[in-house]
Amino acid sequence: MKVTVVGAGAVGATCADNIARAQLADELVLLDIKEGFAEGKAQDMMQTAALLGFDTRISGSTNDYAKTANSDVVVITSGLPRKPGMTREELIGTNAGIVKGVTENILKYSPDTIIIVISNPMDTMTYLALQSTGLPKNRIIGMGGTLDSARFKYQLSQHLGCSPADLNAVVVGGHGDTTMIPLMRLATWNSAPVTNFLNEEQQKQIVADTMVGGATLTKLLGTSAWYAPGAAGAALVESIVRDEKKLFTCCVSLDGEYGQKDICLGVPVTIGRTGWEKILDFKLTADEQVLFNKSADAVRSMNDVLKTL
Ligand code: 2OP
Repeated sequence: MKVTVVGAGAVGATCADNIARAQLADELVLLDIKEGFAEGKAQDMMQTAALLGFDTRISGSTNDYAKTANSDVVVITSGLPRKPGMTREELIGTNAGIVKGVTENILKYSPDTIIIVISNPMDTMTYLALQSTGLPKNRIIGMGGTLDSARFKYQLSQHLGCSPADLNAVVVGGHGDTTMIPLMRLATWNSAPVTNFLNEEQQKQIVADTMVGGATLTKLLGTSAWYAPGAAGAALVESIVRDEKKLFTCCVSLDGEYGQKDICLGVPVTIGRTGWEKILDFKLTADEQVLFNKSADAVRSMNDVLKTL
């Protein structure tokens, strides 16, 4: 297996580190536009191999896409991160050009690859990658809901005093502070509904804190988060390369599912060797569907901005 991570910043490097530690690839390429940066990060990570005991060969490249040739999976993290007070949506102008250029270059050398999009605004960047490449829809996966669901489980675990690993909980819709929808009704602690153990006020707080999970960290860190976004990207790579068919919420192209079409939005999907394989219908209530449609409207108006660039 060969995996490429484009963008050697904090998210890309963390994602690569997780991929190497879990030995998800024989070969891992880290690519960045900043001279020597990816090479440096790759060498630093390779020097952990003797300590951590992994066999993945990691190499870096300054914008030489030939080195990424024949990648099975490519993770795109390139673009500007948020600064405190910024929304993910404000990044569209700069990041659209970057993501378009990256996907074109990647496909020149890896026409059969599966692409995971992390760059923000993630829903619009996933849609852009799909539109500009014309790839089969199953091979373009936006990471957002995987991260947001992990943050939802974190918030739930804090209130329940339990292990996040014992929770099942998903966030659907967009990956924006106001567009994501944590589905409290369906969240379980092993198989018991979490709503059995949380009062209304706690539930509201958990939903609100989940929705601003990224913004809270951007404020604390001065830039956007990287450990959980990187780990979320690597979890998707793992399900692909090991053909695990695990269920994640990912941003994928909808063609009537969840009442939407011509849009990429977060829904529960299985992830395996051919990309996203199946969309699961979680049968939203009428109220949840209203929120989902609102989220779609907001993402659609972001996607419309692409036409003006
Ligand atoms: C976040 O929410 C990077 O969008 C990502 O932290």
